Amino acid sequence: MSISEDTKELNSYINGRVDIDSVATFKGNEHIVKLKLKFDIERIREALDQIKSSSKFKTAASGFHALAMTRRKDGSVDSDKDLVGRYYTRVDNSYDEVAKDELVDESLFSELVDVFKGTYFETIHKELSARYPIGRVRILEKDSYNCNSWHRDPEPRIHIPIYTNPGALFIVNHHCTHLPADGSVFFTDTRGYHTALNGGEQPRTHLVATLAYPEYKP
Ligand SMILES: [Fe+2]
Repeated sequence: MSISEDTKELNSYINGRVDIDSVATFKGNEHIVKLKLKFDIERIREALDQIKSSSKFKTAASGFHALAMTRRKDGSVDSDKDLVGRYYTRVDNSYDEVAKDELVDESLFSELVDVFKGTYFETIHKELSARYPIGRVRILEKDSYNCNSWHRDPEPRIHIPIYTNPGALFIVNHHCTHLPADGSVFFTDTRGYHTALNGGEQPRTHLVATLAYPEYKP
């Protein structure tokens, strides 16, 4: 280890071009994938704006609000706990993983909540369910300057961004990307550690569908 080698090492990183453009776009990897399926973003926004005028989001965590789009088919009572569900997280400097909240049987959530019936969301739910094992579907709104816990879920998810901004990012394991709201449908492998954050000045709204596969056990 020498002073000149250390200086040279740092210089090698200083002289390259810094990319400030591609971070405002989507960049996938095996954990965050843009699927071929696509919906009409204008119709999604129109339907959501209409639903929001008659529905209230519930606050699932600080700065994080949820509106359930599906409910249990067996008619059992919906609980606020259904808005979150089981997740695993490492909360402190022990690095130990702990289980939080309750396991939800995703496959029971096959019925559309009334306010979504007859709207474009019904079409989306039908199209998704025809292709994938869809469980709970929620509209998730994230306030400005907010992030989720660093956690993993028992199952992967489908995301459809509805309103977003370039400061809204999704991270799975070591990969971070913005997900544009243009009707695109994304597979997010939330069986890996992940978080969503909104570093922008506007709220971020996504449709998030759980893929009702059996719980992943690492
Ligand atoms: Fe998650």
